[in-house]
Amino acid sequence: MSDHYAVKMKSIKDYNNRPKADNPVKIQDLTLRDGHQSLFATRGRTEDMIPVAEMMDEIGFWGVEVWGGATFDTMHRFLNEDPWERLRTLKRYFKKTPFSMLLRGQNVVGYRNYADDVAKAFVEQATENGMDIFRTFDALNDFRNFETVVAAIKSCQKHFQGCICYSLTEPRMGGDVYNLKYYLDKARDLETMGADSICIKDMAGIMAPYDAFELIKALKDATPIPIHLHSHFTSGMAPMTHLKAIEAGVDIIDTCMTSYAYRTSHPAVEPLVMTLVGTNRDTGFDIRKLAKINDVLEKEVLPKYKHLLDDSKVSIIDINVLLHQTPGGMLSNLVNQLREMDALDRIDEVYKELPKVRKDLGQIPLVTPTSQIVGIQTVNNVLFDTEDEKYKMITGQVKDLCYGLYGKTAVPINPELQAKALHCYERGEDPITCRPGEVLEPELEKSRKELQGLTSNIEDIILYTLYPVTGKKFLSYKYGKETPPDSMRPRTLDDVKKEQALIAKAKAGKLVEKKEVPVPEMGSHTRTFNVLVDDEYFEVKVDEPGGQPIITHSVPQQVTPAVRAVSPQQVSPPSRVMAAPAAPVAQPASAPPSKPLTPKPSEPTGDVCEPTGTQLLAPMPGMIVSYNYNVGDRVGKGQPVLILEAMKMENALPAPVSGVIRAINFKSGDSVPKNAVLCVIG
Ligand code: CO
Repeated sequence: MSDHYAVKMKSIKDYNNRPKADNPVKIQDLTLRDGHQSLFATRGRTEDMIPVAEMMDEIGFWGVEVWGGATFDTMHRFLNEDPWERLRTLKRYFKKTPFSMLLRGQNVVGYRNYADDVAKAFVEQATENGMDIFRTFDALNDFRNFETVVAAIKSCQKHFQGCICYSLTEPRMGGDVYNLKYYLDKARDLETMGADSICIKDMAGIMAPYDAFELIKALKDATPIPIHLHSHFTSGMAPMTHLKAIEAGVDIIDTCMTSYAYRTSHPAVEPLVMTLVGTNRDTGFDIRKLAKINDVLEKEVLPKYKHLLDDSKVSIIDINVLLHQTPGGMLSNLVNQLREMDALDRIDEVYKELPKVRKDLGQIPLVTPTSQIVGIQTVNNVLFDTEDEKYKMITGQVKDLCYGLYGKTAVPINPELQAKALHCYERGEDPITCRPGEVLEPELEKSRKELQGLTSNIEDIILYTLYPVTGKKFLSYKYGKETPPDSMRPRTLDDVKKEQALIAKAKAGKLVEKKEVPVPEMGSHTRTFNVLVDDEYFEVKVDEPGGQPIITHSVPQQVTPAVRAVSPQQVSPPSRVMAAPAAPVAQPASAPPSKPLTPKPSEPTGDVCEPTGTQLLAPMPGMIVSYNYNVGDRVGKGQPVLILEAMKMENALPAPVSGVIRAINFKSGDSVPKNAVLCVIG
């Protein structure tokens, strides 16, 4: 690095004509995937990527990451966007820069291992739509989970980037699991598999600068394959880590455009470009072009997303990550989960329990999906375990992990927990030791049959296989069978302006609270008038209940989104659902119900008949995956009645008593609040 060029840069003209470096650091941009995934809950829309796409194509990035990770999930689930379509659209604007995606090996872009036919078809279809670089990782660093996708990537003649998830069990690299030898061995395995490049994936931002130097130097000595570093900013170390990695000879670095950088995202590209100017690792990038892109993002795009930024803290660095070595996203998930369950005061217990659960589960790295698996199991333990029973509510995913369905853990799983988890497990009580893909039955044909009549498109079939419940919903929107809810509508700059005006008005004390006047029943002779006052237009309904006409109801026509009333379909639970007070799982229906969840005083309640029996209550907010029984079926105490998905983990809820199912209050795909009555057994 001491090897500076003798360029005297007195003006921007000199800067522009600076000589090319001997060994420029290559840069991959993550703005359009990890950037908005880290900062804005992956809510970035394709239409907001287009304004900068062509400009970004001009920078000279080694690759642009545009897909994978959570994008596939979020797009169809929340944005009503077809994930495949994003690739095709962006490819029209990026003509030079290769596309990169994050692929979870045999997990593809989901949260469990899928069968080989799914993994293979996914890679082929992604290639078909323009994917060039497949950054492949496995949450357990079990590279047997790469075999199927790597064969597909190679046969499509695309770039296979093998990832090693960077993990620690103590504050710095070392110890008996995640030490230098561990990473070098993994790198050699990837070389043997034919990796075109190797990425160290520091998803939690816990790689310390001097550990990076040691690790990258050792990797460069051990293998001729290009080394790529992915380090999140979360703890604040990443810019220093980058610089030390560059000094150690790293080939490629991941960054984001400034406005999508820092916090739990990545370091920004611009400071790095300036840092390296005139050195033998100079990127050669034009910082003025980068500035122009940021200008567009700041003015035209970010105002629509700013409300999603976690502004609960002023600090942009998460000290907890340094203390707990867990990914920032995982910690915020835990906090949200506890908050929803009114148990935020137990966060310290969760921090204490987490390393224990991780150790019991084989000291696995914490990255999607293992971060969720360990995190949610920890929350379950803290909330539901008793003095005499540990691991009282084991999630379906922990059972799968104990069976070996995710692969081989770094150290063996606690045998006691493993035996408990596999008691009556559907696939068998003896865990497997082979590659998980070997025991998984092909899945695509089954999906194809289930979608018959709706679609036969392979992209739809893959999407549905990866996400059966939300995927089906999306496809019903896509093919016009159902209307997507208003909440899926994109936010426009106009919406933002209206909201800002409203906030400004409120701050100035000019926002007068609207008086709540009870609306009486409208008679059959109601007449509607259009009334214009100055430039404000009102629709006035006039009803004559028996005497003189009186005005009973006025609706201003310009309703801003911030004050829009909740529409009936947003209040999903049926009115007969009662929120019970404290008891977490079951409670006899005879107990006095507390306040209804949908208070609609005007609604007649006489026709709702409460079946008697024992209620099975939702122990946590979540989404119904499926019921195992129908009304009228008999269940035995302890048998799993239904699957509730919470924080993407599936929980089989057991029957609190033996009896006949008297009522089932929800259906697959419904969101339920905590304590919702899921069914009644009597
Ligand atoms: Co990342």
